[in-house]
Parts: sequence; C-alpha cells; structure tokens
Amino acid sequence: MTAAPTRHRIAYTGRLPVPVELELHELYDAQRIDATGLAQLADGVEALVVTPSTALTAATIRALPASVKLIASCSVGTDHIDLAAAAARGLPVTNTPDVLTDATADLAMLLILSACRQASVAERELRAGRWRGLSMADVPGIDLAGRTLGIYGFGRIGQATARRARAFGMQIAYHGPNRKPEAERELEARYEPDRRQFLQTIDVLSLHAPAGESTRHFVDAEALRWMRQGSVVVNTARGPLVDDAALIAALRSRHLHGAGLDVYDGEPEVNPGYLELDNVTLLPHIGSATIETRVAMGRRVLANLEAHFAGRPLPNLVGELRSP
Ligand code: DGY
Repeated sequence: MTAAPTRHRIAYTGRLPVPVELELHELYDAQRIDATGLAQLADGVEALVVTPSTALTAATIRALPASVKLIASCSVGTDHIDLAAAAARGLPVTNTPDVLTDATADLAMLLILSACRQASVAERELRAGRWRGLSMADVPGIDLAGRTLGIYGFGRIGQATARRARAFGMQIAYHGPNRKPEAERELEARYEPDRRQFLQTIDVLSLHAPAGESTRHFVDAEALRWMRQGSVVVNTARGPLVDDAALIAALRSRHLHGAGLDVYDGEPEVNPGYLELDNVTLLPHIGSATIETRVAMGRRVLANLEAHFAGRPLPNLVGELRSP
C-alpha cells in the first residue's frame, strides 16, 4: 500500500468565503486559528493566510515558527502586516489586487450618494416612525451633477470611482505623487499637485490612497478648513488617512455637508463622536463585500499558495522582497 502524499500545512485567521475555505481544507492540511492561536502557531505550519483584521506586527512575525515560508493576505491592502519585518525574515507576502476594484468603487459611489443625499438619516427617520409624508423642506441633499469629485490616490480603485462619478455628471480632479496622463485623458481629469489647491477646488473628496506615514491624517483640521463650506468626505481606503477628531468637528459645525465612512482608525472600534452625528453614513468595512468579489479574492489566495508550493513565481508578491 502506498502512503498518501503529505499535504502542506497552512493556518488561516478569520473567516474566508465558504467555497474558499472548503477548497483550502480539500487541498491542504488547513487549520483555522484565532488571534491568540497565532502566538502559539505550531512548528510545521508552512504558510499563513490572514485578512486585514489580523495585525501581523514585527514582534508577531519574528515569533512565527521558522517553518512558515509565506504570508498570503486575503486583501489588497497590506498595512496590517509589517512588511519590513517579513522581508527581514525573507518571508514573502502576497495580496489580492484587481479583483476588488469594482466592488470598492461601487461602495465609494454609494457613500458619495448617501452623504450627498443624506440617505442614512432619512432612513433612520422613517424606521423610527417619524415620517409624516413628503415635504419639500425635508432631507435637503445636494446634487452630484456639475460638482467636482476630488480623488486622493488615483490608482485602480480611485480611477474606477472617477469613472462612475463621470456617469453622474461630476468633474474629476485628483491629487497624489504621480501624474496619470492616460487616465487623465480618459476621465477628463485635472491633476492638482498642490494639496491646498486641490482641496480648495473640489466639492466631494474620496480617499483611495494606502495607509502609511505619508498619507496619515491627509484629512486633518487644516485640510478641512481649506475645503469649501458644504463639501463631503468619503473614505473607503483606510482609517488612518483621517484625523477623526477634526472630521467630527467639521461635521458637527456643519462646515461639511456630510461624510461617508467604511473604514476607521483602530477598527473595529469606531470613534463614538461619529455615532452622535446625523450627517455621516457609517458602514463596517464592506468595500469588497460582494459574494463574487470575496470569492475572487479567496481564489487569488489559493493561486498564490499553489504557486508557492509548486516553486513558481508568486502572482501577487508585495512589499520589500519585490524591490531590487
Ligand atoms: C482590502 O482588500 O484591503 C480591503 O480593505 C478589505 O477587503
């Protein structure tokens, strides 16, 4: 009798889409662990699959058993992983780009619409039984058509959001370190390299830059002062791009018409200041949460695991190991 081939051992944190979890268990000796399990990961585990809700700090990475040779994140963002610490251990990190572009851009558009039209508060009023019939004075929203959408971070998701906003009659301006001439032409977008000038000439700001030192608190008290009275801020990128206290103050004073947030600094904690406001739509980090997208993200994870164990180049290698 020939022995069955040994299956590679992997561990994963959090929940993955059901078909992906099934496939993981079919293909690998897979074990689901929680955050505490991470600290006691058994020697012999060869790859670790995580989502953004698992923070892989430098200390956690250093403490991983030597058998772990790959970190595959089921996300495009990798700010929850200390990439430098992973690189120092020679540990490749992969992510899941492209497949969540449309879903995230759809959600950014949903938040732009909701913030401009005050959909959240309107629904809360109705659910609370306070609707007394159509009134010309209720729920004063603002039009999208003719307004300028400012995109900070004109990458795949930023451009996909701009594409949608164009269909709503919006003009596009963008800010970031690099000019994108091709996208500029396609979307008739204006590049504004100066942060202050950018913020002073837009009506709706949508954030699409990754988290990092250079993007931290891009929206701070000064930025909000520069923005026009009655503007809107939307964040589907990462919480630390926004200084919460400053945004809450600008919403409370009604300097801003509204905001739409899907991500939070320190999530799943949400600054309680937001909860008291009626001019902000708050969603629980669901930018990529469509069935199709989440399964496609999981399949990216599977493709990276397969390539790793077959000794092939990793399709979605990120971080410092990729740099020459
Ligand atoms: C990502 O992929 O980085 C999203 O924030 C979670 O889906």
